[in-house]
Amino acid sequence: MANELNLGIAGLGTVGIGVLELVSAHGHSFPSRTGCAVNVQAVSARDRRKNRKVDISSYEWFDDPVALAASDGIDVFVELIGGEEGVARTAVETALKSGKHVVTANKALLASHGVALAKIADENGVALNFEAAVAGGIPAIKTIRESLLANDITRVYGILNGTCNYILTRMQKEGRNFDDVLQEAQDAGYAEADPSFDVGGHDTAHKLSLLTTLAFGVETSFDTIYVEGIESISLTDIEAADELGYRIKLLGVALRTNSGIEQRVHPTMVPKNTAIAEVDGATNCVAFNGDFAGDIMLIGPGAGAHPTASSVVSDVLDIAKGVILPPFARHTNDLEPYKRARMRAHEGGYYIRLSVYDRPGAFAAIAERMAEQEISLESIVQRRPRSALPGIDAQLDDGSPLPVVMITHKTTEAAIRAALEKIEDEGNVNETPQMIRIEKL
Ligand code: NAP
Ligand code: HSE
Repeated sequence: MANELNLGIAGLGTVGIGVLELVSAHGHSFPSRTGCAVNVQAVSARDRRKNRKVDISSYEWFDDPVALAASDGIDVFVELIGGEEGVARTAVETALKSGKHVVTANKALLASHGVALAKIADENGVALNFEAAVAGGIPAIKTIRESLLANDITRVYGILNGTCNYILTRMQKEGRNFDDVLQEAQDAGYAEADPSFDVGGHDTAHKLSLLTTLAFGVETSFDTIYVEGIESISLTDIEAADELGYRIKLLGVALRTNSGIEQRVHPTMVPKNTAIAEVDGATNCVAFNGDFAGDIMLIGPGAGAHPTASSVVSDVLDIAKGVILPPFARHTNDLEPYKRARMRAHEGGYYIRLSVYDRPGAFAAIAERMAEQEISLESIVQRRPRSALPGIDAQLDDGSPLPVVMITHKTTEAAIRAALEKIEDEGNVNETPQMIRIEKL
């Protein structure tokens, strides 16, 4: 390795500026930490005249990130633009094909094209590093790629989206509504350019697909992940969960099963007295089960300029040290084809909230549909509607719908879905039933 590494950084938004700040703060110590000086040589973004908080006048400017990726003046192309297609993909491909190492935080790109890009990196003998793409500042990728490499991993799961965890936490602690809190997460720089990727669960799925490929040695299969977001979670659900001893978290879960690999992203009720229930705000956690290492859980900041920059620059410093590892922990030709396990085989307890018309026979019909599917109930609570909380006028005996919350004993996804479909068809409820899986992790 030469004793100087030149970076070209494309994207000077939340993460890009965080990287420039980190290099400015600690760059002087990189030669003693790695044996190599690290210089920012050139940058690219959309608008050269934008005020960017840091002085970029000493760096060469490129209007076109693809031209930067091909430039002879850089050794490492750092892609911090984002997006599955378009300029980010073209620039990363260009950099790898022209023999440049690539560091990226772009999980959307990698979830769809990561294996193809890793093949190009393998062929060209360069690094494709993406620690920042999963769980911000938490070293999740390194943990699988390096520290757990000797293990067979059976399960990986976690809270992988800072924006969603921030929203759910603020709703629970402050009783605030979804939209206000989302705006706060956007203002803090946690959310994606299109925040529906966060709240719809897709960002978590992007990250989960990368963890799955690393943990289980299979090809990435983002399109087959079962995904539910947090848009349907109401304050009623959060309060009911609290009273029943649970917190609601958006989890990504990947498991090796006898029928293949199960990958799912959905709101989950976790018991309050567990470590994962206490992961609040934009903090994330990633948990692994290694057959020899046992259970490991990493907790830390999941989004934001500085934690993400920490991961980006640690990837750069690996390259500076001459550490070039296969992107997905093994040669891409050794990744096995992905075999999907059926989601309907999932078993566990369920939280169900129905908005039931207050009329004779409605409850009996619902109980019958549950019994037909052999679903037994641990608890059932009729809640006052939020509109009938103290100080708000409401008629409670006029036949209008009332929230009813049920917790089931262990049952199957297929049984729950069949019962809820019939309950909705029979017209005793006035909205689609809410169903949240309970995990005793
Ligand atoms: P951001 O604040 O929206 O910044 C995006 C940057 O890309 C901007 O500087 C923008 O230029 C530039 N850009 C957009 N389109 C471009 C184009 N066609 N050509 C050149 N430059 C272009 O995004 P971010 O939050 O920093 O996220 C960047 C990447 O990191 C994404 O892949 C994201 O998923 C990932 N990530 C983000 C976080 C986080 O906490 N924010 C954490 C982990 C990973 P202008 O400034 O001129 O508009
Ligand atoms: N939008 C992402 C999040 C950024 O909120 O977790 C970090 O990947």
